[in-house]
Amino acid sequence: MSRVAYVDRRYVSIAAPAVRVEDRGLQFADGVYEVIKCVSGRPCDLERHLNRLERSLTALAIPMPASRAALKTIIRSTLHRNGLHDALIYLQVDRGVAPRNHVVPARLRPTLIVTVRRSSLPRATELSHGIGIITLPDDRWKRCDIKSVSLLPNVLARQQGAAAGCREIWLYDADGCVTEGAGSNAYIVDTDGNLVTRPLGQAILGGVTREVVLELARDEGIAVVERPFSVAEAHNAREAFLTSTSSLVLPVTAIDGRGVANGMPGSITSRPLQRYLDHMMKAA
Ligand code: PDD
Repeated sequence: MSRVAYVDRRYVSIAAPAVRVEDRGLQFADGVYEVIKCVSGRPCDLERHLNRLERSLTALAIPMPASRAALKTIIRSTLHRNGLHDALIYLQVDRGVAPRNHVVPARLRPTLIVTVRRSSLPRATELSHGIGIITLPDDRWKRCDIKSVSLLPNVLARQQGAAAGCREIWLYDADGCVTEGAGSNAYIVDTDGNLVTRPLGQAILGGVTREVVLELARDEGIAVVERPFSVAEAHNAREAFLTSTSSLVLPVTAIDGRGVANGMPGSITSRPLQRYLDHMMKAA
């Protein structure tokens, strides 16, 4: 079955030349996106993703491209046309098509793009294995709370990580504190046993997985502290992990080539991980 995408009110082959040359998403990265996990035909935490989409669009004064009900229908139909039940859904909204000019013309119609690709959940053993990451300076813009398609610094950082054999990197700010990963949120368990993560604000993306995992961790009776933590503190942490739609809750077992504690996934991390897996299966 050839892949089908939804592009600007049409379902087209993914190979079709469907985006206009003067689309502002293409020329200015003037748009936002969401990545949503779909398990057994059901998009997980869809309302939370649509809430964030609306927040990102509002921050950039781009109108919603369609009602929530219409967006859900388009997502369902794109999954159906691709014959997929376990998938990652990519949804992009950009400001629309206009002759190239930085200043935004009035009454543009936003461009909506939806693509889906097969993706099964990582197996529990895979998740409990853990990964190594490296840290790099955060040189992104100052509105990382907006899920902008302008991802060049993230791309370059991930590329540097890949060259070092790491599938994720953590970024740190001018004070030496970790902001987040190139495509995930960052956590440690500190020497007092608190689950620590950077508070929401313009320095990080408010992850949907973060929102759910913090709720589940608090529900488990784990002490959650939202405060900045330094790279040095991460090096000396008891445990570390990251969260994202595609990686779920993934233990970080080495940072900058040094093992986190004994270099094995920790016992506190495993609790929100298990609860999160249950949450997804229930949602599905
Ligand atoms: N990345 N921080 C950044 C910079 C991200 O790009 C992402 C998501 C997250 C985690 O957000 P969530 O839990 O809602 O997935 C945090 C997506 C998956 C991506 O770019 O593919």
